[in-house]
Amino acid sequence: MRRIGILTSGGDAPGMNACIRAAVRTAMTNNVEIVGIRRGYSGLINGDMSALDRKSIINIIHRGGTILETSRCPEFTTTEGRAKAIKVMEEVGIDGLVLMGGDGTFRGGALLANECNVSISGVPTTIDNDVYGTDYTVGFDTAVNTALEAIDRIRDTAMSHERLFFVEVMGHHTGFIALESGIAGGAEETIIPEDDSTDELWTRLRESFEHGKKSAIVVVAEGDQPGHTFTIAQEAKDKLKIESRVCILGHVQRGGSPTARDRVLASNLGSAAVSALLKGKSGYMVGEIKNEIVYTALEDTWGKKKTLSPRLEELASLLSA
Ligand code: F6P
Repeated sequence: MRRIGILTSGGDAPGMNACIRAAVRTAMTNNVEIVGIRRGYSGLINGDMSALDRKSIINIIHRGGTILETSRCPEFTTTEGRAKAIKVMEEVGIDGLVLMGGDGTFRGGALLANECNVSISGVPTTIDNDVYGTDYTVGFDTAVNTALEAIDRIRDTAMSHERLFFVEVMGHHTGFIALESGIAGGAEETIIPEDDSTDELWTRLRESFEHGKKSAIVVVAEGDQPGHTFTIAQEAKDKLKIESRVCILGHVQRGGSPTARDRVLASNLGSAAVSALLKGKSGYMVGEIKNEIVYTALEDTWGKKKTLSPRLEELASLLSA
């Protein structure tokens, strides 16, 4: 292997820069050139890339976002789009590719792997944590801590005004962020897409207000409809006759300096992704399960479903209201 390309794709995640840094250092230590591709698959199609060296990754480990920038690229889902990318890789002499992203990124990567001779390694980077084959994705821990900080702040004002608050967190179609930030923030209730029935929730909240509770926080996962929490707040008004406030945390959760946990995970996986290519492995995502590096076929990263921890679900319900 002489030249590896690296790109970040899909939603950015804190820790992507730490991952790029680890990949560059690992490649250079093994005398392999590494090329940074800008704006994800879009840069691969358009040949928007430049060589990375030790200087280009100085002072980035603590920075959020991605120095390579990112995008979602509909053109890459087409055979023609990928053919353009393959041509660019042949011209530039890229024989290995590190893909950082979530399920959308790996779907594109799996198609590409079947259409060309370039070796491909994936790194799970998304705040959603919804990728099979790793205990945690890069960025999840930072997002949970950002949500937690917001929940703690909201608790101060909720308590002062004796108010019910609904706090909407990201996570796309999964409740990983909601579940962990809800438990850590002492949420009275947590609504997740995996179990979004609100019938018992209103009964529990009514009872706890009747027993003297003056304020409460309900953490709501955005699910497929960001902003749907306003509808839930209206339901609360109709069912409980209580005024509430809604706080949508949104993209705040995607930015910021990565936590130590995310930096270590990102460094470990970025380095492992390059090492996998050097060992001749292709078509796998590198993940970390119980502190060990684990390789999962790209197809399985979205074909198999990562589920919430039943223990944490039980705990959230046990500690609620
Ligand atoms: O996949 C990460 C994520 O932040 C989701 O939690 C969220 O639903 C989505 O991306 C938002 O995407 P966009 O940046 O396109 O608004």
